[in-house]
Amino acid sequence: MMSSVPAVSVRDLRVERGGRDVLYGIGFEAARGSLLGLLGPSGCGKTTLMRALVGVQIVKSGTVTVLGEPAGSPALRRRVGYATQAPAVYGDLSVGENLRYFAAVLGAPRSDPARVVDEVGLGRHRDQVAATLSGGQLTRVNLAVALLGGPELLVLDEPTVGLDPVLRQELWELFRELAGRGTTLIVSSHVMDEAGRTDRLLLMREGRVLADGAPESLRSRTGAADLEGAFLRLITERGGSTA
Ligand SMILES: Nc1ncnc2c1ncn2[C@@H]1O[C@H](COP(=O)(O)OP(=O)(O)O)[C@@H](O)[C@H]1O
Ligand SMILES: [Mg+2]
Repeated sequence: MMSSVPAVSVRDLRVERGGRDVLYGIGFEAARGSLLGLLGPSGCGKTTLMRALVGVQIVKSGTVTVLGEPAGSPALRRRVGYATQAPAVYGDLSVGENLRYFAAVLGAPRSDPARVVDEVGLGRHRDQVAATLSGGQLTRVNLAVALLGGPELLVLDEPTVGLDPVLRQELWELFRELAGRGTTLIVSSHVMDEAGRTDRLLLMREGRVLADGAPESLRSRTGAADLEGAFLRLITERGGSTA
């Protein structure tokens, strides 16, 4: 039934921001339960694409379908979790209070705050006021909010930026586990070494998808030793400059 519909289907998406084109005809599909990476340098359009997926971005043309519905449909509200790049939690509430507040707004089960706080490894900080958390802890509270209600699609904008390698590893393990349970994840990063942890990568540059495939196939197709090298070769193939 629903599972035959891709989690996300984007066709010829064009977006203009500040009077300038920033996405030029993006197209891709994400299967249910897949872990898709959106990789590319700062300013290439990752956040804009994610905004279109959650339905807050005005688009110039093209279609964005999420779980079979037009992006941003009211019916999708509880089915899609979004963690913005800048943490959006209340500084004067504790971790637990933030999560209980957002759970109430979303109509998520009462047991959810306890579940998500453990999933992101913040159990010890449950009663700490958010304003006093470290950057990495704040990032994890932000992620925990997105996990409330067990959404079918998670859109996570640079969720591992600023985290130490151990935490990054733990979060990628959590993403993998969620995908294993059938959640679809779209995770952006500008750090190439994270790319290898995904099932599939969209390599973006300047508002376009340079390549779309499994990390291993991108590496072998370009003959590069690593994904950073693959990215550089793809740019050169296209006749672009790396400057
Ligand atoms: N509010 C805005 N107004 C005008 N231009 C914007 C705005 N936000 C982002 N942009 C531009 O859109 C492009 C893509 O930005 P963004 O999607 O944030 O990229 P990324 O997330 O990959 O860093 C950039 O050139 C950026 O300068
Ligand atoms: Mg961004």
